[in-house]
Amino acid sequence: MHELELLLSRDEIAARVAEMGKQITRDSEGERVVFIGVLKGAAIFLSDLVRNVELDATFDFIGVTSYGNPPGPKQEKFWDSTGEVRLIKDVEHSLRGQNVILVEDILDTGLTLTFLKRLLLGHEPRRLRIAALLDKPQRRRLSLEADYVGFTIPNEFVVGYGLDYAEKYRNLPDIRILPGALAR
Ligand code: IMP
Ligand code: MG
Repeated sequence: MHELELLLSRDEIAARVAEMGKQITRDSEGERVVFIGVLKGAAIFLSDLVRNVELDATFDFIGVTSYGNPPGPKQEKFWDSTGEVRLIKDVEHSLRGQNVILVEDILDTGLTLTFLKRLLLGHEPRRLRIAALLDKPQRRRLSLEADYVGFTIPNEFVVGYGLDYAEKYRNLPDIRILPGALAR
């Protein structure tokens, strides 16, 4: 068991996700939008976000993993991106000509979203935007910014609301800091 420190309460998250939904609704007025969630971390954020969007919208999921990051509690730094991101689940339909919003739990080094952005741009969407619930700009290795950011957070490892540590804690309703995890 780890001691977890509260960073963002479920109420703060809900309020901010509602604002993000309103902003997306305003920005995409009159358009059809396809949300693409990155498995598994963004599943909860996506489900809350899309219910705060009043547009003709649909969603799908895409799955990635990093080489050298096998899941498992004994792995050290298994969550640290290696830069070798690999697609494990593709989208069902082509996104050609669509207004796409890629939905990610957290923008950290930027490697995952850089990989996914390149992949989705290959579909030749009409427009591609990125919504990230959390942003840890201090850890960025590739320069990339999200169009919509829920919260900018300090350089800490966080869990809950979809985010995991070795597949644990995804179901916590709040976002909590796992103290010392980044130094491990
Ligand atoms: P990036 O490729 O380094 O930007 O990493 C993005 C991915 O790393 C996210 O989708 C998460 O799966 C994982 N990640 C990065 N930071 C954290 C964290 O603090 N907690 C849980 N997962 C994280
Ligand atoms: Mg993830």
